[in-house]
Amino acid sequence: MKFLQDIKVKGKAVFLRVDFNVPLDENLKIRDETRIQASLPTIKYLLENGARLVVTSHLGRPKGQFNPKMSLKPVAERLRELLTETTVIMAPDVIGPEVDQLKANLKEGELLLLENVRFYKEETDNDPGFSEKLAEGCQVFVNDAFGSCHRAHASVVGVAAYIPEKAAGFLLQKEVEHLSRITHNPEKPYVAILGGAKIEDKIPVLESLVNKADVMLIGGAMAYTFIKAQGRGVGKSLVEEDKLEIAASIMKKAEEKGVKFILPLDHVLTSTIDSQEIALVADSYPLPETLMAVDIGPKTIAEYEKYIKSARTIFWNGPLGVFEVKAFSKGTVEIARVVADSAAFSVVGGGDSIAAIHQAGVADRISHISTGGGASLEYIAYGTLPGIEALK
Ligand code: 3PG
Repeated sequence: MKFLQDIKVKGKAVFLRVDFNVPLDENLKIRDETRIQASLPTIKYLLENGARLVVTSHLGRPKGQFNPKMSLKPVAERLRELLTETTVIMAPDVIGPEVDQLKANLKEGELLLLENVRFYKEETDNDPGFSEKLAEGCQVFVNDAFGSCHRAHASVVGVAAYIPEKAAGFLLQKEVEHLSRITHNPEKPYVAILGGAKIEDKIPVLESLVNKADVMLIGGAMAYTFIKAQGRGVGKSLVEEDKLEIAASIMKKAEEKGVKFILPLDHVLTSTIDSQEIALVADSYPLPETLMAVDIGPKTIAEYEKYIKSARTIFWNGPLGVFEVKAFSKGTVEIARVVADSAAFSVVGGGDSIAAIHQAGVADRISHISTGGGASLEYIAYGTLPGIEALK
């Protein structure tokens, strides 16, 4: 795979895929620009080196329909503020004669931002004809959209077939360097912390970690599918009934491999999340029928801390409770502090876990915060991603 330093871009039209899937508020103002900032080094490098830059991203899931609420116009406005020396042109569309003309007219050091590429269903279908139209007029393909590299979509994968020269941008390069340190040769002990609501999206990563990690610390609502699979009563806690079998098989594999698969020892319980009140902290089963678990309790925090302190490598994805409610956030925030205090190489991925890291005020003490949620999980699971393979 080539990197930016390996290619010449002066005077060339560069098709740059970024992940500007940023959250917008009801007034279409950007709520968090982390992902824009994360690709700025690549954008600046390409502009400074004389590229005629065509920038592409998705925003949200418009399902193949034009939707003004998911337009990239607010991103174009922000880019104009961030790149004061640069002409930033907002395209009215993604493909078509008007866009082709704008591409052809681009001068060296100018930036053309295409509209949300998911306004076309052909994007998610990875349609070859659409990929060819995206590539129209471009001589170099640069992918800096780590957060989208697990999607085999036209602007991530398909377009690579129509542009001869390809390279990874600085963000993608950095993500791969850090994440491969975890997947390819993690220093031991390797502790994985997995939380969040569902195991559904995490089955491949759970199955992979069972072969690689030494300890797996489980939290969040997904812990209760595992606990129920052990035959224990979990009250009103969220359980994925159709995943009980796979949960049991993951625990069995962990046992066979000698991996410590640790579930919460005590549970912060509430009658409803909306009440924002703790009803009970329980450390035995069955949990009361009328209550649901919303955070890990103090015994679990202490137990998890023990493992995290002795780790040399840590991967964390997913909050350990309903951390957006203050009363139920203690477990996640405490674990964030413990991870930050550890001397291990630590990687945190996924929007909610990153928010928790910021809430705990420890972002600067984490070795690597990944911009990709699903992408970092799939990278950990498979050791590569479709978007990375397409650059090779
Ligand atoms: C993300 O937010 O994780 C990426 O931008 C990918 O978005 P998607 O899950 O809608 O493909």
